[in-house]
Formats: sequence, structure tokens, C-alpha cells
Amino acid sequence: MKIYITEVGPRDGLQNYPKIIDTKKKVEFINLLSESNVDEIEVSSFVSPKLVPQLSDAEEVFKNIKRNKKIIYSALVPNEKGLERALSVNVDKISVFTSASETFNLKNINMSIEESLNKFKNIIKIAKESSKLTRAYISTAFWCPYEGKIDSMKVRDISLKLLNMGVDEISLGDTIGKASPDDVRELLELILKDIKRDNIVMHFHVTYGMASANVYIAYREFSIYKFDSSVGGIGGCPFAPNARGNIATEDLVYMLKRLGANVMVDIEKVIQAYSILEIESYSYISKLKL
Ligand code: HMG
Ligand code: MG
Repeated sequence: MKIYITEVGPRDGLQNYPKIIDTKKKVEFINLLSESNVDEIEVSSFVSPKLVPQLSDAEEVFKNIKRNKKIIYSALVPNEKGLERALSVNVDKISVFTSASETFNLKNINMSIEESLNKFKNIIKIAKESSKLTRAYISTAFWCPYEGKIDSMKVRDISLKLLNMGVDEISLGDTIGKASPDDVRELLELILKDIKRDNIVMHFHVTYGMASANVYIAYREFSIYKFDSSVGGIGGCPFAPNARGNIATEDLVYMLKRLGANVMVDIEKVIQAYSILEIESYSYISKLKL
């Protein structure tokens, strides 16, 4: 099975960065990423520009990037207004986002979980009528910064509701990077009883240094083959205190290649794209000659 990688650097990577990156630089970054053989690029978010000013240029970015036909260009959409904005610039894939924690969901999108699911029904319906691909994130799928450990049954139930609405896939977010390999095993063992692995994406953050171990478990023990990552390991959620970046694309690709996985991403091209941002990376690979 070919590994499917969604590069979330332009969205998750930049949404919490203390400086606002110039639109032209973002476009250049995404155009370079488009040469690296990633399967999908999460370009931006159509959220409140007051809350996430780093991504307030989502329309401009979409209008100016050069699209590679082999790549899916996706974006986060929290509500109808976000959907309208996303459709106006022909986003390929609409990614709604909720959480398995009520407290986090309120802080993140100002809705209870139920309110968000009710809103998404219509969004998914319109997205599908507009021939768009769809994804739903479930944040804090393992641990919440406010509520602690999350019950896996809750994640399973929300996943099933979203899949019943017709979303193509669920991305399980370890928002604060606190999941251990045993947590990942427990959730996947449960969820894969009812949900096909083709519908599951893993989205790991690196805060506690366990993201690579978690990918290993998901890939080796459960044959999960869809992963989110951000080049340089940049990222973090503004509404999750102390969350660090995503697993670095270069680390993810390097590990999967060493495991013999069928992964087509060109690490050097990804690093080349990242280097134009001039943001410090925690990932060491970018400093090595491979
Ligand atoms: P709200 O205040 O409840 O919204 O925010 P509202 O409908 O009451 O509207 C308030 C104002 O916002 C109005 O403007 C609206 O027009 C405007 P005003 O009349 O005051 O001038 N507004 C919008 N503007 C532009 N685009 C929109 C939009 N919606 C309303 N779509 C809302 C609700 C969801 C908008 C807000 O809470 C929000 O934008 N939150 C941002 C959440 C976010 O981006 N979080 C980070 C991404 S999630 C993440 O990082 C986790 C993930 O990586 C997975 C993981 O790691 O777990 C995905
Ligand atoms: Mg994230």
C-alpha cells in the first residue's frame, strides 16, 4: 500500500507562528512543496481572521498557487461562512474539525461537540454536492489539555457519526502530542473494529517526543498508511497551550523509507521548500546531507 502524506505545514505549521508570513512567501513555499511528491497540501484555514490572523490571506494564497494536478489542495473549514469562502477559490478538499473534548472544542471553535456535528451535516452535504473531497479532524483524540485522558469510545462514536454524514476520512489528532504508543494501540484496536483503515489518518504532534513511535505502531501493527506531517516539524494549535509542532515530514518520510514502506516523497525537495521560510526547525535531518 502506498503511503499517503498530507503536508500540513502551510496550515498547522503557520497558524501559531508568532510572525505573519508574507502571502508571496507562502505561495512560493506551497509551489515548492508541490514539487516534492506529497499527496496533499493543507494550504490554509477559512477561520476567523481575528483569531488566526496568520492565515487571514487564505483566499489570496489559493488564488496564487500553481496547482499540480496530482496533488490535492485542502483547507480547514469550521462553519458555513468558511465553506463559502473555500468554495469561492475552488478548494479541492474541505476539512471540518471538531474534538473529542467538550472543553477544547468550545475554546477552539466556540461550539459544543454536538453543535459542531450538526453544523457539519450541512457543510459536508454542500461540499459533496460541489464534488469536493471531505475530511473531518477529531482533535484531542487521546489527551486534552483541559480534560486529561480521553475515552476511546467517545472518539469511536464521533468518528462513526462523521462517517455516516459521508466524510471521506477521519484524521485523529494528538493535538498536544501526549499520546503514547500504548494509547495509539488502544484507540486503533477499538476503532478498527467498526471503521476501515482506509478511512483513518493519523495526525501526531511531537511535544513529548513520541510521534515517531506512534507512527511506527500505527503503520506496523495496524497497517495505517495515511499520515499528516509538517516540514521542519513546525506547528501547534493556538487553543492548546504548550502544544508543539507536528511530526516533521522529513523525519516521517525517512523512517517510513527505512521501514521499507512505499513512500514517494522527496525529502530534499521538502527541505528546500521549508528553507525559504527561515524558521528554526527542531528536526535535524534538514541539516544533514542524506
Ligand atoms: P464565533 O465567534 O463563534 O463565530 O467563532 P460567529 O459565527 O459568532 O462570528 C463571529 C465573527 O467571526 C463574525 O464577524 C463572523 O463574520 C466572523 P464580526 O461580525 O464580529 O465582524 N466569522 C468568520 N470570518 C471568517 N471566516 C469564518 C468565519 N466565521 C465567523 N469562517 C469560529 C467561531 C469557528 C469562526 C472561531 O472560533 C474560529 O475561527 N476558530 C479558529 C479555530 C482554529 O483555527 N483553530 C486551529 C485549527 S484546529 C487545530 O489546529 C487542530 C488540528 O491540527 C488537529 C489536531 O492537531 O488535533 C486540525
Ligand atoms: Mg494539529
